[in-house]
Amino acid sequence: MSKTSSLTIVGTGSYLPGRPYTNHDLARVMDTTDEWIQQRTGIAQRHYAQEGVGASDLALEASKRALEDAQLAPEDLDYIVFATMTPDFILPGSAPVLGAKLGAVGIPALDIRQQCAAMIYSLQLCDALLTSGQASRILLVGAEAHAGFMPWVDWNLLDSPDAPKPSPEAWKRANEHRSLAILFGDGAGAFILESRPRPDRGLLAIDLHADGNHATKLYIQTGFRTRPFVSQKTVDEDLFIPRMEGRDVFKHAVTKLPKSVKRCCSRAGVRLEDVDLFVAHQANQRINEAVREALGVPSEKVPTNIAAVGNTSAATIPILYDQIAREGRVKEGMLICFLALGAGLHWGSALFRV
Ligand code: ACO
Repeated sequence: MSKTSSLTIVGTGSYLPGRPYTNHDLARVMDTTDEWIQQRTGIAQRHYAQEGVGASDLALEASKRALEDAQLAPEDLDYIVFATMTPDFILPGSAPVLGAKLGAVGIPALDIRQQCAAMIYSLQLCDALLTSGQASRILLVGAEAHAGFMPWVDWNLLDSPDAPKPSPEAWKRANEHRSLAILFGDGAGAFILESRPRPDRGLLAIDLHADGNHATKLYIQTGFRTRPFVSQKTVDEDLFIPRMEGRDVFKHAVTKLPKSVKRCCSRAGVRLEDVDLFVAHQANQRINEAVREALGVPSEKVPTNIAAVGNTSAATIPILYDQIAREGRVKEGMLICFLALGAGLHWGSALFRV
């Protein structure tokens, strides 16, 4: 696909819950160190949604900020697209829940579940809705509350440097999941999208892929193929915590993403060096560095926020974009490449002219 459209980001917002939790805080509940986490991932801290706070609550705050940025009200929206892998409920999705909290009821509300690659898929979908005239103003939000699958129970231990050590059982259990647990943080990012008649602007090209042969490289095993789908076994064997073959996912990311970006540029008929900013999913800083080196682009074109927020899955791209937009780094006419790979596997890139 190579086409011109007029998808326009007219407002952005983001939200991070509570205080940041450092790597030192995590070292109180499992056997890890700030040095290991920083060296292997680039992450220094992350935020967690508080008990009882769901993805829709985080999304609500980011959405309000995006609406304010666009100088619009909830009733101005005519579609909600909500990307999350950690919805408030297993069913229904979080989009209608957000709509009700926001006061945007009655309009279509759709969940997207392409995990860390969800924003690239969502941009394609929103572009199609807007340019076909099926929607005129979309709230696209990505939000995650990963805290619910963290492998520790006693959250108080994170809060106090003088806290006692967890029980040997709790310590052992958290250690079994430590390579995954240190990666994720919670938050939300939102875009208000409109279609505007602006030639050569908007989504210029998109390159999207999925390969379910790798579905179990990063997955939560609990699902409706077992009866009942939740049982004591789910809890005893931690089947609600994602399992990840980290090294394998890493290799897929560093090989697939550069190819995708190059394909996307060629579809849009632009040179790689003409891209002003690469807004990449933030799974691991080493992945981002390897992709940047494979593409041969300078680091000033690749903004990052992983040190401060960790991997916020579907929320990553809108949070990062909101942050750089508010810093004044996004300018009219710039060419921006969004890129991501996540569970599924799903991966791809999108070229967007501001
Ligand atoms: N602290 C200290 N040591 C640790 C930790 C930790 N938190 N975690 C693992 N280790 C140890 C392991 O036990 C192992 O020790 P050993 O050599 O004695 O056996 C050693 O460190 C190496 O472990 P690996 O898991 O092989 O570490 P690796 O270098 O692969 O890093 C990581 C792990 C950071 C998870 C990396 O593989 C990665 O980032 N993978 C990609 C993640 C990703 O892209 N996910 C997709 C997006 S997310 C989504 O879609 C939802």
